[in-house]
Amino acid sequence: FDAVQVISIKRDGGAVPDDALRWMVDAYTRGYVADAQMSAFTMAVLLNGMTRDEIRVMTDAMIASGERMSFASLGKATVDKHSTGGVGDKITLPLAPLVASFGVAVPQLSGRGLGHTGGTLDKLESIPGWRAALSNDEMFAQLGGVGAVICAAGSGLAPADKKLYALRDVTGTVEAIPLIASSIMSKKIAEGTGALVLDVKFGSGAFMKDVDKARELARTMVALGTDSGVATTALLTDMNTPLGLTIGNANEVRESVEVLAGGGPADVVELTVALAREMLTLAGHPDADVEQALQDGRAMDAWREMIRAQDGDPDAALPTPRETHTVTASADGVVTRMEALPFGIAAWRLGAGRARAQDPVIHAAGIDLHVKPGDTVRAGQPLFTLLADDESRFARGLDALEGAWEVGAQAPASAPLVLERIT
Ligand code: URA
Repeated sequence: FDAVQVISIKRDGGAVPDDALRWMVDAYTRGYVADAQMSAFTMAVLLNGMTRDEIRVMTDAMIASGERMSFASLGKATVDKHSTGGVGDKITLPLAPLVASFGVAVPQLSGRGLGHTGGTLDKLESIPGWRAALSNDEMFAQLGGVGAVICAAGSGLAPADKKLYALRDVTGTVEAIPLIASSIMSKKIAEGTGALVLDVKFGSGAFMKDVDKARELARTMVALGTDSGVATTALLTDMNTPLGLTIGNANEVRESVEVLAGGGPADVVELTVALAREMLTLAGHPDADVEQALQDGRAMDAWREMIRAQDGDPDAALPTPRETHTVTASADGVVTRMEALPFGIAAWRLGAGRARAQDPVIHAAGIDLHVKPGDTVRAGQPLFTLLADDESRFARGLDALEGAWEVGAQAPASAPLVLERIT
């Protein structure tokens, strides 16, 4: 094969034959196809799309570039969740132990935050002693025992995706749905999970702002999982407003523990319960009473065991910020709007996130919300508090929040958190 020929087929709107597409991915990973050629190809895909068959072959080729794990020897059903990312999205933390408390294994390979979306590993690293890096043996032992593992994905899974994603990032081709779907699903299928639930977000704080695009992405990924023998469903969920009342790291852990103790904000509980039901249905427990497991302490027991298994102390005090700055309502009214994206950017500027992969995060930094859209407030009432280790960060945080929230006269129309289920 020859890269120019493959690029030309896609440029002219054709479908690339299976063996040519496999060759293209393999040759690029090995360095025989140049970055310039692959970036022309990814742009052609962005403009002209891919068939369902092409997306499946592309995904297979990326899986074949690295190791493939298998949990068959565990003797338990395995089910994982993937979220396309949002602001205040800590759902993995209560969800993994909740689902594992029903005897199901949850191999949750997670990442770190970049830009305005947080990373599950960054949040958990607020817990003193907790360790994200596990060997394959440690991961298997923990899945066989407590059942829930949240740890860093090894570099051996889909290395082609790592190279391709870095290229897309600098060539304006991240947004191609066939490439997003094959990127996410190659890692999840290589990880070896038996079933997968996708939380595909739309709205201001989501990767896909537009609900129709999010739906198309969800359908594409569900088809890919199904074609590859992984039972896959998706929920299309609203990310116009931050989830829960915390955005950051340590504060998100604290809120997750509240949910595991049977409390917590209504939206976080609703999404945790909805995703747990989806996961347990795919894992063969359609009648599992997930709300009961949050109320009676079973999910909390699994959380404590999961944290301890990775050397964390579930009873240790979490880091607290050195400085706080509270914004209050200037008049009586109702909160009409709190936009996810600017709140995510503000938390990032306060130190909760990172601009470059190698930067550290400040675990105590972020934002605590005291009210949500729909709540009535009195003049002088606290709306939200910025958390930082250094006062000088507040000005840039407040800058990001300019126009991001509003107290008005009329309550906003309520929108469902879970818009659709896609199978
Ligand atoms: N997340 C991924 O892992 N890959 C993409 O292409 C986009 C988001």
